Amino acid sequence: MVGGLAGTLPLQGSDYSKSWDTLYGFLFWVCAFFFVIVIIPMVVFVIKYRERPGNRPAQHITHNLLLEFIWTAIPTVIVMVIFVWGWVVYRETDRPPANAQEVRVIAKSWSWTFQYDDGRTTTNDLYVPVGTPIKLLITAEKADVLHSFFVPNFRIKKDAVPGMFSTIWFKSDVPGQHLIFCAEYCGADHSNMMGRVIVLSPEDYEKWKWGAEVKLPPPVGLPFPKRQETTDAKLIDTRMAKGKSGLALEGERLVSSMGCTGCHTSDGSRKIGPSYKGMFGRTVVLADGSEVIADENWIREKIETPDRRSIRGYEGLVMPSYAGQLNERELNAVIEYMKSLN
Ligand code: CUA
Repeated sequence: MVGGLAGTLPLQGSDYSKSWDTLYGFLFWVCAFFFVIVIIPMVVFVIKYRERPGNRPAQHITHNLLLEFIWTAIPTVIVMVIFVWGWVVYRETDRPPANAQEVRVIAKSWSWTFQYDDGRTTTNDLYVPVGTPIKLLITAEKADVLHSFFVPNFRIKKDAVPGMFSTIWFKSDVPGQHLIFCAEYCGADHSNMMGRVIVLSPEDYEKWKWGAEVKLPPPVGLPFPKRQETTDAKLIDTRMAKGKSGLALEGERLVSSMGCTGCHTSDGSRKIGPSYKGMFGRTVVLADGSEVIADENWIREKIETPDRRSIRGYEGLVMPSYAGQLNERELNAVIEYMKSLN
């Protein structure tokens, strides 16, 4: 289960991690071997044959056919081996088995949305059963930028491109939480665009599927960055102590899990978009100079059709639409949360 190359690679969390690591190990040792046989003689020759009075070559050598043939033929064979081997491993990762379960992945600045067959969606956490081939259909929100879906433990990485679908698949036999990174620089919060693949036992997955509480398996492989540990539960505990309503807390949880906090703060400071603090009920000046009151309908408009009317000072900033991602009950909770920040 430990990663290849004496544990310097991440945990082997998917089916083909092993073949991937073996190929990587081969590449590493080929490079190391040639590095040594080139660099050591080079250093020795630089010292031994450096220019000194009376140190002249006995004869002028222009070429050596045999030597040149050998140093062309051997690398050619090696790169062909690398090509064929790489092709075989690539095909393994690129062709999902026919019985693979499909999950759709939608990237947006700065969160991951996962959409399952039964119509459920989750944000930043991808739930899958252990030992089952999962095919990911990856894209990015329209009008968003490039992202890249990267799970080091599984050795999978695929670009998420607006307006285009890409696929990749994996089968994990290692229950636990596996880190997801965004591997394509996508702006201010790129480094925080993280998620988890949560590989559950078949029983737990069944429970999760029917909406029951499941105890999450522990993080495995790479150490989890702080941000993952401070979400939801802990945050809510501390806020609860400050006497917030249950509905506002639900809204706060949604705002955090939908990835809104990637662009908006709750403390009055500007991140990308406006802060939520003190926003509700305020007069907002639009780009064209007209004014609106930031009431419930305004919040709905900004969530569902954010680009319809832009706010003065925030022109040209793109916010993805969350239309259809919040039901009315959830929308009310989000609005209540915003009110609670006044
Ligand atoms: Cu998304 Cu980097």
